[in-house]
Amino acid sequence: MPKITFSDSSLTVEVETGSALMEACEHNDTPVDFSCTMGACATCLVVLDAGADQVDPADDDEKQTVGYSTDEANARLACQVTVNGDITVRYIG
Ligand code: FES
Repeated sequence: MPKITFSDSSLTVEVETGSALMEACEHNDTPVDFSCTMGACATCLVVLDAGADQVDPADDDEKQTVGYSTDEANARLACQVTVNGDITVRYIG
């Protein structure tokens, strides 16, 4: 099962392959906050410090929202990420 490590809190959780990063955040005490949950507000902005290739790619709408918010490499909206392998998440929202 994929492992999600939250670098801000040293928390690591295991999830089913293909599960939503947002669910893992909401079911554990993580530093990631959410608001719209639809990819529009960037409250949930994170950087994948490891495993950027272990999640489904961003669609054009997510790329646009991220682009307005940061120029950090591997930045994603946590509410839009599907986890397929081990990742390390850093919250910057
Ligand atoms: S919660 Fe608004 S973009 Fe993720």
